[in-house]
Amino acid sequence: MKTLIIAIDGPVGSGKSTLARRVAELLGYVYVDTGAMYRALAFKALRNDLTLDGHDAELVALARATRIDLRAEDGTQRVFLDHDDVTTAIRTPEVSQAASKIAVNPGVRQVLVAEQRRAGEQGGVVMEGRDIGSVVFPDAQLKIFLTASPETRAERRWREHQQKGDHIDLQRTLEEIRERDRRDLQRSTSPLVRAADAVVVDSTAMEPEEVARLVVLLAKDKSSAQPG
Ligand code: DC
Repeated sequence: MKTLIIAIDGPVGSGKSTLARRVAELLGYVYVDTGAMYRALAFKALRNDLTLDGHDAELVALARATRIDLRAEDGTQRVFLDHDDVTTAIRTPEVSQAASKIAVNPGVRQVLVAEQRRAGEQGGVVMEGRDIGSVVFPDAQLKIFLTASPETRAERRWREHQQKGDHIDLQRTLEEIRERDRRDLQRSTSPLVRAADAVVVDSTAMEPEEVARLVVLLAKDKSSAQPG
């Protein structure tokens, strides 16, 4: 099978990570979670007590001076920040909010988008985020825009935390999701938008495996339609 670039975008909790990971596994592709890059940088900014709002030049300097590596180990993706494993540390509600704040900074985005392009340009990659089909790889051969209702997304996020033993409030999770949606949709640089040529998949009433199989079918279709 030819090696495509598959872009998966969508709002928080729509199931992008589960989908992207599974599709990469089924196709033997590399999986890249770009949200983890924004999270890792936000984690470092919090640790350094930087101001997160606004177009702060300090944040851009931090992004330039930071090394973020995503590595597949034993079937899971591990995130390294300047060589330290921060895979678990970046999944807290505090880092989620901080990541969505630093993601409005155009200079920060420029640095991270350049790294994402380097990671995916060879193809054979499933990359998930908010702007992959619209900005990072506007020529990706397959673009999926994954959605689900806010209530379903909040419940999924809440369940994930429950499983980890973090007891968070469902109503509060829904409010946080709405707040992040607002920020992701309204920022002036690379807001969450559906690329005109993206396939919209609503996962509210679908099982994760069903969604993955659907995307693999679409990928095979695209791949056989490719010249060469
Ligand atoms: O997908 P996630 O929840 O791990 O992403 C964390 C934050 O990073 C999210 O609020 C928006 C931002 N983000 C972004 O702006 N662009 C991306 N390509 C990926 C994530």
